[in-house]
Amino acid sequence: MQTIAITGATGLLGRALVKVLEKQHTIIGCGFRRAAPPLVSLDLSDQQAVNAFLDQYAPDVLIHAAAERKPDVCETDHTQTLALNVAASEHLATQCSQRGIRLFFISTDYVFDGTQPPYTEQAHTNPLNFYGQSKQQAEQAVLSSDPSHSVIRVPVLYGDVEYLAESAVTVIAEQLKLNAKSAHDDWAIRFPTHVEDIALTLADLVALPAEKLGGIYHVSDNQAMTKYQMARTIAPLLGLDGEQLIAVPEPTQSAARPHNCALQDTRLHLLGITHQREFGAAIAAVLARHE
Ligand SMILES: NC(=O)c1ccc[n+]([C@@H]2O[C@H](COP(=O)([O-])OP(=O)(O)OC[C@H]3O[C@@H](n4cnc5c(N)ncnc54)[C@H](OP(=O)(O)O)[C@@H]3O)[C@@H](O)[C@H]2O)c1
Repeated sequence: MQTIAITGATGLLGRALVKVLEKQHTIIGCGFRRAAPPLVSLDLSDQQAVNAFLDQYAPDVLIHAAAERKPDVCETDHTQTLALNVAASEHLATQCSQRGIRLFFISTDYVFDGTQPPYTEQAHTNPLNFYGQSKQQAEQAVLSSDPSHSVIRVPVLYGDVEYLAESAVTVIAEQLKLNAKSAHDDWAIRFPTHVEDIALTLADLVALPAEKLGGIYHVSDNQAMTKYQMARTIAPLLGLDGEQLIAVPEPTQSAARPHNCALQDTRLHLLGITHQREFGAAIAAVLARHE
């Protein structure tokens, strides 16, 4: 049993991390605006508060999942994005290094430009939007501060959402409920991955001896889908006719998105760590809780 601090514990991924890891470890979950006991409210942009938190709880491991992760928000608010995604991550990396705390930094497939998939852990990064650039900068700060720190790159996530618009996958169900003939991006190839599978992977990684950890890991499901294809899977679950949906063959969003950032999970494969699930059944289970 280890003491594991989790930032972003009020968020989509953080909630799943707490749920999975608390079965075997002592968890100190932190959120910010949504944090209610037992979660700790900690503003990661307040460096003194971060230092006091690390001194008080002295975790063995810190999983840093808090971020501004909406590309369109990052594009319009560079200052806030740099403060949370870059400066706070850099500070955590340095402070964890000084205290001997093993850091797992959650990053994104959007550090790649999507032109040459699949991407190995060592592949050249070239983010197309400000969100990806901020995560790329944070990755570099984390990795250069301590070779035992780990970067965990993940693709688009879904899972037990508090409301349908919380994830870029479940929001499709909301769009379909509003308009059964809605239009969906059929250009960008995504690999929707359930947050519980990311959490189970982290549970396996934190159990490894320190000398086996450090550097970059890719964690991704392997079902390639456009948002249009996800919508076609979701429509019958809502009693709708998927034939009515409109496929949009070019990018539809304001911040530039990569075409295909397929992540090759070579390091996890070598470690024998695989947690995946079939998208159709998994999204049906998620949506059943929002009828
Ligand atoms: N969701 C995806 O599809 C996706 C895809 C690829 C990578 N990722 C990465 O995965 C990680 C988790 O994403 P997510 O979807 O779970 O995010 P999320 O649901 O948007 O949650 C963001 C979290 O950050 C916290 N936060 C915001 N400002 C903060 C501050 N100043 N100080 C401390 N905490 C603060 C929020 O706390 P409060 O709400 O309590 O304020 C919340 O817990 C992120 O690093 C993201 O970049 C996500």
